[in-house]
Amino acid sequence: MNLHSVSRMGMNRRHILRGLMATAAVVSLPPQSIAATSGTDQWRTITAKPGDARLLDAAQSVRTKIWGYDGSVPGPLLRYRQGDTLRVRLENQLPDPTSIHWHGVAIDNRMDGVVGLTQAAVGPGEQFDYEFTLPDPGTFWYHTHNQSWEQMARGLYGVLVVDERDAPAVDQDLLFVIDDWRLRQDGQIDTGSFGNMHDWAHAGRLGNWLTVNGADRPQISVKSGERIRLRLVNTANARIFRLDLRSPAHAASMIAVDGFPLALPQELQEAIELAPGQRVDVILDMTGDPGGRVAIRETSTGKPVDCAHFVYDKTGGKKPRTNRRIAALPTWGNHAPVDIAAAREIDLHMTGGAMGMMSGAMHRGRMMPMGDLVDARKVWAFNGVAGDLDRPLAQLRRNEHILINIKNDTRWPHAMHLHGHHFQVVRRNGTPVSGTPWRDTELVRPMEQVTLGLVADNPGKWLFHCHMLEHQAGGMKTWIDVRA
Ligand code: C2O
Ligand code: CU
Repeated sequence: MNLHSVSRMGMNRRHILRGLMATAAVVSLPPQSIAATSGTDQWRTITAKPGDARLLDAAQSVRTKIWGYDGSVPGPLLRYRQGDTLRVRLENQLPDPTSIHWHGVAIDNRMDGVVGLTQAAVGPGEQFDYEFTLPDPGTFWYHTHNQSWEQMARGLYGVLVVDERDAPAVDQDLLFVIDDWRLRQDGQIDTGSFGNMHDWAHAGRLGNWLTVNGADRPQISVKSGERIRLRLVNTANARIFRLDLRSPAHAASMIAVDGFPLALPQELQEAIELAPGQRVDVILDMTGDPGGRVAIRETSTGKPVDCAHFVYDKTGGKKPRTNRRIAALPTWGNHAPVDIAAAREIDLHMTGGAMGMMSGAMHRGRMMPMGDLVDARKVWAFNGVAGDLDRPLAQLRRNEHILINIKNDTRWPHAMHLHGHHFQVVRRNGTPVSGTPWRDTELVRPMEQVTLGLVADNPGKWLFHCHMLEHQAGGMKTWIDVRA
């Protein structure tokens, strides 16, 4: 099924309702004055609970039952300044155990939220206090890390913004949280296909309904002359989005990936590829005509769909900027460059999946043939081990420099995410590359070889897994152990 195909499957009321849709569903950040952020040392409670969302239209006709933080999707925007302490009490009012993981934050290991590795699951009716400092500014996100292939597909995620001490001046700072849902014809989440083995062994759970900030094709109100910061976040289980933000009506440059500043802003030459878990920050200088409308297009399926619109104020706008230069974000120098010549090399060989060559793998301490692995729902392996966490991929000394050589011997792309650290791609298919941005999630293409370089500067047990959540559950996870 393609994105938005639900509408072709008989949901006709939505077309009638389209004309009524007027509200701008974009979540706007408060004005980017650092003084405006307040109360950061206060505890706040976030309740994981069932709720409902107007995923199909803004006119309230169908409400989709979801699980959300504070009952909404995305969950509440958390915004702090670099160096602040985050204090969140998770209260679980779901029927199932859960947790929160703070994706991309170089965190204190006990707060990382990985059930089974860094904490016990927070049971129904229980609480857990997350408290840690935020060392790096940027666009991050938070999500459940228990049964995530189901809990994230139900909506348990939100955005965490950490402001730079010297943030660029913009007129609007906006979130663009993109997700694809698998909905039934009645507009409810297709829960019957949770755990589907076809999804497990192929691309993961792909949806049929696309939302931006939990809404269908929201309208982003803009004025000509404005400078906008747009923070793109892919919260989908498995879909790699391609967002085409190019238009003659504005100039657009990428300034950060996964929250990390690019050394130089990059003018958009093509659609932005956004794998699950990844983020991209873009600066847009709006120059469209008053009353105009400009689509943002999603092009990953080969059948482009408009997923949101910029809608220009009718009354005109501001004077165009005299200084059109887009400056790079301030860098903060927390990351030591990797000493490639001296670094220890660690291999990670990916196998499995449909059309793969895997004949068997280690699982639960014994060698299993493929048939037994399928029964155990483990159809992928790292270094011949399917999803066991009893031993780490590597034991590391603190501040050890390492290179992880990922060899993707599968027919599928994988969005590899390392917790608690950031890395640079230093080799691709055997060829050294330099100057690549720091990231926390890297898309490794079918049959590709990618080497990640990093300094293991954060002690603890750090999960390293595919962010296609069905692949993760199906065996694509391991961890590194960084000694204190
Ligand atoms: Cu965003 Cu281990 O995950
Ligand atoms: Cu994968």
